[in-house]
Amino acid sequence: MLKCEQLTIRFGGLSAIDRLDFEIDSGEIRGLIGPNGSGKTTLFNLISGIYTPTSGSIVFEGKPIAGRRPDEVTRAGIARTFQNIRLFGDMTVWENLLVGRHSRLKQNVFDDIFSTAKKRREESLAREMLENLLKQFRMEKLRDELAKNLPYGLQRELEIMRAMASEPRLLMLDEPAAGMNPQETDQLMLQIKRLKELGFTVLVVEHDMKLVMNICDKITVLNYGKKIAEGVPREIQAHPEVIGAYLGKQVKDSA
Ligand SMILES: Nc1ncnc2c1ncn2[C@@H]1O[C@H](COP(=O)(O)OP(=O)(O)O)[C@@H](O)[C@H]1O
Ligand SMILES: [Mg+2]
Repeated sequence: MLKCEQLTIRFGGLSAIDRLDFEIDSGEIRGLIGPNGSGKTTLFNLISGIYTPTSGSIVFEGKPIAGRRPDEVTRAGIARTFQNIRLFGDMTVWENLLVGRHSRLKQNVFDDIFSTAKKRREESLAREMLENLLKQFRMEKLRDELAKNLPYGLQRELEIMRAMASEPRLLMLDEPAAGMNPQETDQLMLQIKRLKELGFTVLVVEHDMKLVMNICDKITVLNYGKKIAEGVPREIQAHPEVIGAYLGKQVKDSA
């Protein structure tokens, strides 16, 4: 579904992503882990069109997307969330979803003039899709609530819903469980598993190893912008270089 080849981006002398070969299959949940500064968010920024690679390629469903604008990448079928909450706090849950939906629409004046009927049909389909999202995340009753008044865990889920509102096939989540308590994290795990059951492909950056090891089909490990390991959770947990670069430190941090 997604294929990066020899993907590289340099900032000054630093290769934040360094000749990375990386592939995701349709329908999988892929984990992306590694120490702080290893290039995880940078990879998201490259795929989602925020950064243009220095060299290398990114192909999504057979279509080259490296260097495309973020709105073009969204329209191609990729959506993401950010490491820090980026909701519109003074807008309602429903309005936040409409904003997410809007990022998918083509801006074309001729649409307004010539295809009002078609547009109305599309809008009612979109509304139905957003209603389904609310149901799936059990937020029907919160639709008119201001985003800033939601509990933290639900704010983070609303960010995922907003990304989903653009109807992506690949969803990229950057540290979705950051700041969540264990109950909120368990709830999030269920939601991400549901997304997979519904046929979505998910790429998730996360430091919570319980979440990563539980929900990911495969895990890719970055260190200094390079892939140091890739495999199923059991292989990654037992990988000496991963333990040295990352997991060993995780255990120390949580001790
Ligand atoms: N726009 C930028 N300009 C300069 N350096 C950057 C930029 N974006 C990321 N970096 C650097 O790239 C490296 C990887 O960062 P990042 O992808 O945010 O790491 P991670 O998400 O794995 O913690 C870091 O050294 C960071 O300082
Ligand atoms: Mg990051």
